[in-house]
Amino acid sequence: MTQDATLFVLFGATGDLAQRMLLPSLYALERDALIPNGLRILGTARTVMDRDAFRANVAEAVRKAIPSGELNEDALTALLTRVEYHAASIDDPAALASLTVRMCEMRGSGDTLVHLSTAPRWYGPICEALAAGGVADSRMRVMLEKPIGHDLASSIAINESVAKVFREAQVFRVDHYLGKEGVQNLLALRFGNALFEPLWNSRFIEQVQITVAETVGLEGRGGYYDESGAMRDMVQNHLLQLLTLTAMEPPSHFDPGAVRNEKLKVLRSLRPIEGEDVATHTVAGQYTAGAIDGRAVPGYAEELGKKSRTESFVAIRAHIDNWRWSGVPFYLRTGKRMPRRATEIYLKLRAVPHSIFSGAGAEPEPNALLIRLQPEERISLMLMNKTPGLDRSGVKLSQVALDLDLHDAFSHERKRVSYERLYLDALGGNGTLFVRRDEIEAAWTWVDQILGGWTARGQEPRPYPAGTWGPTSALALPERHGHSWRE
Ligand code: BG6
Repeated sequence: MTQDATLFVLFGATGDLAQRMLLPSLYALERDALIPNGLRILGTARTVMDRDAFRANVAEAVRKAIPSGELNEDALTALLTRVEYHAASIDDPAALASLTVRMCEMRGSGDTLVHLSTAPRWYGPICEALAAGGVADSRMRVMLEKPIGHDLASSIAINESVAKVFREAQVFRVDHYLGKEGVQNLLALRFGNALFEPLWNSRFIEQVQITVAETVGLEGRGGYYDESGAMRDMVQNHLLQLLTLTAMEPPSHFDPGAVRNEKLKVLRSLRPIEGEDVATHTVAGQYTAGAIDGRAVPGYAEELGKKSRTESFVAIRAHIDNWRWSGVPFYLRTGKRMPRRATEIYLKLRAVPHSIFSGAGAEPEPNALLIRLQPEERISLMLMNKTPGLDRSGVKLSQVALDLDLHDAFSHERKRVSYERLYLDALGGNGTLFVRRDEIEAAWTWVDQILGGWTARGQEPRPYPAGTWGPTSALALPERHGHSWRE
């Protein structure tokens, strides 16, 4: 039976993700009294240092992340008193063995949560070491960072190596998008309101667009990114997760099994994009030098320091072959060095079946729902209204947005980092917002077909200037079907 964790072990505790996100998220849970009573935290990494040096490192990471006026010193002190450190190189079995001895001493009577924030090739060996040390029992949960593999085969290999030690219910695969408030709100919007469900299907919805646009470039991660590209880095995980939440059937409960079963069905209903369809249904791009917000930025190859065929932009026209979505295109688009940061889901409804205003010189535009997740959370329902005024010749109509600014509506609430939610759930043993193995593998199956199609066709990414919405062929992707991207 799942219990709150009494020990949390962080592998990669001195890494960039830990410093920027993970340690500050633990602080935030401490500040809000959400950390399980008696939880002890054990950081581990290759760097040799003692407990006090690591505590200083944690304090520094928290101070960097939290504006000084907002820092609660008591909460930081309380967090630091939980923290211990044990240096261990993950390629050194003796060091891992000594780490497991330490874990045994510290684990207490509750569960242990282990977060592997390391390169995924280490997941198997670390799990084996945990098993050899006798700590990988039913009281342990293991949280894995993306990417789980580079393709289906490598993802299966990683999952298998973890499955040798842990049951699936003990494995918590992170997609940090699922920890975002806006993403969870998508479920609240769809399943907490009776208004949308009757319209949420191909009878009323004409097309769906999911955009994750970033203004950043390689951010010093060229080594990793150039091996991945936008398809593996963003589409395989974040975009497909957004797609599943948008398209899934209502689950019977908000619990890990019910929610993830429905998400999986969507992934398995994605129509394969193969053969000629790869050319007509997908576009890959790579940015060249350009400007964003009036600031000149270098091209991908210049940033990387060499020529490359890796895509920094992908657009896809996808279809979900089931009753609900038959015939509705899902346009997916993500890229780096786009004109602005925007994560949004746009559902365009069909036109009214008959316009009574045609004779009066006005044409209603179709309704649309825009769910903006980043940079601000906002929901806008575009409705047709009469333009106020007197007009002899008939009536004028204009589209006006019914706007829900979630920041204003919940201005008393703190803005949360995804990992706060994910840690809270993983410490308590709730896997709803984590990705199950079959989801990851279904997503890779679909993505691999497209990647394979690109390779078979020798398809190179098309150039697009930084600060634009991708190559011109990306504009043509919906336009060939009488649609256009929302901008
Ligand atoms: C990560 C990708 O998973 O998500 C990055 O590896 C990307 O390339 C990041 O920049 C985007 O996350 P967010 O939360 O800033 O939208």
